[in-house]
Amino acid sequence: MPDQADFVVIANRLPLDVTVDDSGEITWERSPGGLVTAMAPVMQSRDGAWVGWSGTPDVDLTPFKADGMTLVPVTLSADEVSDYYEGFSNATLWPLYHDVIVAPEFHRQWWNAYDRVNRKFAEAAATVASEGATVWVHDYQLQLVPALLRKLRPDLTIGWFNHIPFPPVEIFSQLPWRERVLDGLLGADVLGFQRSWDSENFLRSVKRLTGATVRGRTITVGDKTKRVRRRLKVGVYPISIDAAAFAELAASDAVATRAQEIRTELGDPDVLLLGVDRLDYTKGIRHRLKIFGELLRDGLVAAPQVCLMQVASPSRERVEQYKTLRDEVEVTVGRINGDYSALGRVPVHYLHQTFPVEEMAAMYRAADVMLVTSLRDGMNLVAKEFVAAQVDLNGVLILSEFTGAADDLPQALVMNPHDIEGAKRTVLRALDMPREDRRRRMRSLRRRVMAHDVTAWADRFLSDLAEAATS
Ligand code: F6P
Repeated sequence: MPDQADFVVIANRLPLDVTVDDSGEITWERSPGGLVTAMAPVMQSRDGAWVGWSGTPDVDLTPFKADGMTLVPVTLSADEVSDYYEGFSNATLWPLYHDVIVAPEFHRQWWNAYDRVNRKFAEAAATVASEGATVWVHDYQLQLVPALLRKLRPDLTIGWFNHIPFPPVEIFSQLPWRERVLDGLLGADVLGFQRSWDSENFLRSVKRLTGATVRGRTITVGDKTKRVRRRLKVGVYPISIDAAAFAELAASDAVATRAQEIRTELGDPDVLLLGVDRLDYTKGIRHRLKIFGELLRDGLVAAPQVCLMQVASPSRERVEQYKTLRDEVEVTVGRINGDYSALGRVPVHYLHQTFPVEEMAAMYRAADVMLVTSLRDGMNLVAKEFVAAQVDLNGVLILSEFTGAADDLPQALVMNPHDIEGAKRTVLRALDMPREDRRRRMRSLRRRVMAHDVTAWADRFLSDLAEAATS
């Protein structure tokens, strides 16, 4: 049995992904996604335990220490990965919670696996949490954990934070197991969301679909007659990054030199546009390519003087909609490059790869304009990384209004990615923006990102959780 911890984080993935090669040798690399980017520094400063899956099926590992954290691996079988992770989490909940951009699929077998795996996570956390510990559950993959864990360990204080949007009740109601999901969440003491819209959507679902009482942002659950009433708080906690550390990295000589090299390797374009995403249909990569392709077609920008570097890191590659998206994106990139390349010079530099953080920082510094065109996005930490990396204040951020970041970063050029004409005008505005205007906007964006960093986010959530425990 692992040592017990006073602070426990539970997330679908551990911050490190394991791969086992044919000879059985194990290698670790950082897991993808914003959750890990945000939570790793929070954990390192708190000496807690992190309960999560190793990223590979059927790998049995004992708890171990890495990067200043105790990691507690939960083993998932290949069937569980397919039904709980790829199925229910990423082909049912993910599209349902992101405006049904693609159709969610509802399968009872997937739901049963979700229920079973949530129990596994709750049991692992119940073992590792010390008496009276604080447990912080993360994201849509683990919505049943709060109630399951409370049943196993009533002594714990339990928080849950949703990194992705929470849908309007009219959409959430499609879920055949909607009451079970809400009951699972109502096991927490504090429930956190990225934007106030998300929290309001959630509260409306609780009012409409459960017997709980909602007053403002307080929910009361339980049976009045049996005197087992419990109060929980719903709050809005926009997540962020370790902004100072990222800015310091971006300001380093090594990153500055690499940023110059990147521009040279790209053929010294006059303007470098940048997109950085997991290859996911919520990110609006096709919309971005359409916007850029039309600007080229209409002669409003000329290649190769203006080029786009698109990093699309591999994600959920066995899920059907992700395979389709990859094909569509790659066909579109091929068409644009076919139509507008010169020998040895392409307008779209497409990288279906994952890069170390130093290389990402150099790409942000090398870019003139960052394009975030998500159709729906809980926060979008890439936007905040780009801002933190603009140590010389030169870059322009274009941000979809459908990101949580749009609430936090109003000095960006905020636009609607569905409005292709409007989006094209926004890109042209970014290209023509006078230096002083660019710097003024970026200075104020940086002030916000530096002030509201990930430590402030975690402190606020955890202090509300501590207060809930004593009230
Ligand atoms: O925040 C959304 C999220 O699903 C996280 O839970 C996750 O860490 C990240 O995106 C990457 O997704 P996945 O773990 O499915 O690769």
